[in-house]
Amino acid sequence: MWGGMGILAILLLFASFVGIGAKELEQGQQTERIAGSAGDVLEDDPVGRLKVYVYELPSKYNKKILQKDSRCLTHMFAAEIFMHRFLLSSPVRTLNPEEADWFYTPVYATCDLTPNGLPLPFKSPRMMRSAIQLISSNWPYWNRTEGADHFFVVPHDFGACFHYQEEKAIERGILHLLKRATLVQTFGQRNHVCLKEGSITIPPYAPPQKMQAHLIPPDTPRSIFVYFRGLFYDVGNDPEGGYYARGARASVWENFKNNPLFDISTDHPTTYYEDMQRAVFCLCPLGWAPWSPRLVEGVIFGCIPVIIADDIVLPFADAIPWEEIGVFVAEKDVPKLDTILTSISPDVILRKQRLLANPSMKQAMLFPQPAQPGDAFHQILNGLARKLPHNKSIYLKSDEKILNWTAGPAGDLKPW
Ligand SMILES: *[C@@H]1O[C@H](CO)[C@@H](O)[C@H](O)[C@H]1NC(C)=O
Ligand SMILES: *[C@@H]1O[C@H](CO)[C@@H](O)[C@H](O)[C@H]1NC(C)=O
Ligand SMILES: *[C@@H]1O[C@H](CO)[C@@H](O)[C@H](O)[C@H]1NC(C)=O
Repeated sequence: MWGGMGILAILLLFASFVGIGAKELEQGQQTERIAGSAGDVLEDDPVGRLKVYVYELPSKYNKKILQKDSRCLTHMFAAEIFMHRFLLSSPVRTLNPEEADWFYTPVYATCDLTPNGLPLPFKSPRMMRSAIQLISSNWPYWNRTEGADHFFVVPHDFGACFHYQEEKAIERGILHLLKRATLVQTFGQRNHVCLKEGSITIPPYAPPQKMQAHLIPPDTPRSIFVYFRGLFYDVGNDPEGGYYARGARASVWENFKNNPLFDISTDHPTTYYEDMQRAVFCLCPLGWAPWSPRLVEGVIFGCIPVIIADDIVLPFADAIPWEEIGVFVAEKDVPKLDTILTSISPDVILRKQRLLANPSMKQAMLFPQPAQPGDAFHQILNGLARKLPHNKSIYLKSDEKILNWTAGPAGDLKPW
């Protein structure tokens, strides 16, 4: 069951993990820089490197929608709201569109929730289209580039494909009118029609105060080897099995439910955040989408994320050395997870834990209120700044048109 390793060896190895307390990490380690240039990139200050113009839209595109359902402020797609608020008072904001490098259209497209709190993206295409029609007729900037110097925050499951079922999302593709814009989105999977070249992948929103409130003393030993809480099967939406998480979660359960090194279950205990701080490895398998908030929670709680999601594009991948922080396991290798994890040497584990202890790493995963240096808002701005200056070829000739306003499903063309 344990991949041929002797029980004694495992216990010895296990004992050494328990011994890696945060005390050692604190002693002189806090100033350790993240390898390579990533640390410098993370701590970059975007102020002075870009100017953003925020379009003023009628409140029906943003504030009114939020008034109808305040849950939009706490769910994992809340970045679209907090990014708007952040930009309104950010030093990179300019009130003079003539000097702007980037244009931002504040549309809350992910705030139409079912009674259970799941976002329904069905109106989002019409809403986006309506907003773009408005900015393109009231200001001259959209028509200049057809959106190539505009960015949109689209944190939904499959970004601007605006559907929660992958097949349907792929069929729809990225909303045509957003084809030239830069998308800031949670969804990230290589070679996927819903991830456009040049998009900025961000972490899902996880409530900073709530996580802060559950911090336990940093020298608490990590006595859990592998931790996971969540679904293994989604019987409601995938009754036959195999589609949900492409079977990876089911495989975790089938292979390791009786393995004492694996603390895994579907129960969501009240000590969930505390448990992550007592664990060495936290599984972050794909679900319906490649990512989940576990990735953020792992980083915040110093639990090494074990990423099981082939071809995932992680948040701020150009700034954060994910390969060095986490462990990547191919979906097909889930049955070997025990051997893979027990073969990682204590030195390597300690190094990953030190990187995770770096405050700039945690800061980059959060959208705090108010904003703080190096947080996810700043990483987004850094991502936008790194795309400047714009290629001159984005500016269209006065009568040139590239986008087709009537492309896409007929339903998307109805007024919003
Ligand atoms: C931009 O182009 C659209 C469609 O061609 C046109 O209706 C609109 O008036 C133009 N906007 C401006 C500000 O000229
Ligand atoms: C600008 O865009 C054109 C056309 O897409 C491309 O050929 C050129 O290499 C780009 N220039 C730079 C500096 O990226
Ligand atoms: C725009 O898209 C519509 C719908 O797909 C299509 O019928 C029309 O021919 C397209 N127009 C142009 C100019 O390509």
